[in-house]
Parts: sequence; C-alpha cells; structure tokens
Amino acid sequence: MQTDLMKHKVILHVVASLDGFIARNDNSVSWLDDTGDIYERGVAGNGEEEAGEDNYCFVLGSRTYEHALQLGWPYGDTPTFVVTHRQLQSARQSVEFYSGDLKRLVDEILAPRFRNIWLVGGARLCQDFLSLGLVDEIRLSIMPVLLGSGLSLFGNAGSETRWRLKDVIAYKTGIVELVYGSYGHPD
Ligand SMILES: NC(=O)c1ccc[n+]([C@@H]2O[C@H](COP(=O)([O-])OP(=O)(O)OC[C@H]3O[C@@H](n4cnc5c(N)ncnc54)[C@H](OP(=O)(O)O)[C@@H]3O)[C@@H](O)[C@H]2O)c1
Repeated sequence: MQTDLMKHKVILHVVASLDGFIARNDNSVSWLDDTGDIYERGVAGNGEEEAGEDNYCFVLGSRTYEHALQLGWPYGDTPTFVVTHRQLQSARQSVEFYSGDLKRLVDEILAPRFRNIWLVGGARLCQDFLSLGLVDEIRLSIMPVLLGSGLSLFGNAGSETRWRLKDVIAYKTGIVELVYGSYGHPD
C-alpha cells in the first residue's frame, strides 16, 4: 500500500555542459546564456518552467546558495532549504537552513510538506543525495557547449546505478533535457 510519505518525489535538476560540468572553475556563468533558436524541430522554452504545481520546494547546497545571492535570487518566494554546517543568516523569509542527516531532511521535514522536492545543486550536494539513494528522478539539461574543465556534476566517487529513461525534450535553443526515473520510485 502506498503511504502519504511515498507520494513525494526528489527531482535532481541541473544544467550541465556536454562534457558534464555544472560550473566553470571561476564560477562565471556566460556558458548558460542561450544563443537563440538553433534547432527548428525543438520546442519553445528551456525547461526552467517545470516546477509546475504549487506544492514544491527547492533544496540547495550552501555554495549554490551564496552564488545565487550574488547572481540575483532565482527562487522567488518558493520555500528553499539550504544545507550547510555553518550558522548562516538569511534576510529571505522563504529560506531555511538545515544541518544534519539528509535522509531525515527528506523523510521527516520535506516529504510531509511537499510533493515535489527540487534538488537544484550544486555538485557536492547532488552527489551526497545520490550516494544515499535519495533521488527519485534526474532531469539533466544539456547545454550545447564543451567547457573543457570545471565542476563535474557526478564526480568520480559514485557507484554504478541504472536509471530508466522517461522522457527526452529537445528545445529550440539546442538544450536537451534528459529525464530519468529511479527504478525504486513508483511513477
Ligand atoms: N549548472 C547548474 O545547473 C548549477 C546548479 C547549481 C549550482 N551550480 C554551481 O555549482 C557551484 C556550487 O557547487 P558545489 O558542488 O561547489 O557546492 P554545493 O553543493 O552548492 O554546496 C556545498 C556545500 O553545501 C553544504 N553541504 C553539502 N552537502 C552537505 C551535507 N551532506 N551535509 C551538510 N552540508 C552539506 C556544505 O556547506 P558548508 O560548507 O556551508 O557546511 C558544502 O560546502 C556554484 O558555482 C554554482 O553556481 C550550477
């Protein structure tokens, strides 16, 4: 029988370069700029519209949080949970800090409140979630650019895991979104 707790979904959603990096070494973000419509058969948009329904939150690592503050906060008033070992202060009411066991964060704090839990980076936090088996869906947007070096999304400390392809969306911008489900999640 499916319990209420099982209805939530943790979705890892990041943008990576063709060679698997999510940030340049110097943190500059011009590689994320789209270069206009280059793929006629693609659909409009870029996948950023997907958070969808009301009942969702964002989860991010503290370095992503600090970078997002510098760039201009992209998460609006959506409840946002920042994982850190530090005592950070936020002027934003929508931001809560969390330190501790990530499984407890998902099962006891987020799952009872949110249906979709969007894990939006960075690499370190995504790797921790993956190694604990806490990710139900991976939505990887591939930017048509090779960076050559940078921060690798998956690193090289993971273990082999099969994922089930659920969808492929090609955008006019040349971005391709790959959607994979975990074999352990019901949908
Ligand atoms: N392309 C994209 O879609 C995308 C998405 C997100 C981020 N980024 C980029 O990625 C870079 C940041 O990624 P990152 O991997 O360096 O850092 P990150 O994952 O954003 O943050 C790492 C920090 O989060 C905290 N943390 C992570 N796992 C933890 C755990 N299990 N328990 C407690 N705290 C934990 C620690 O904070 P404390 O040190 O405070 O304890 C750690 O230093 C930035 O340049 C950002 O712009 C790109």
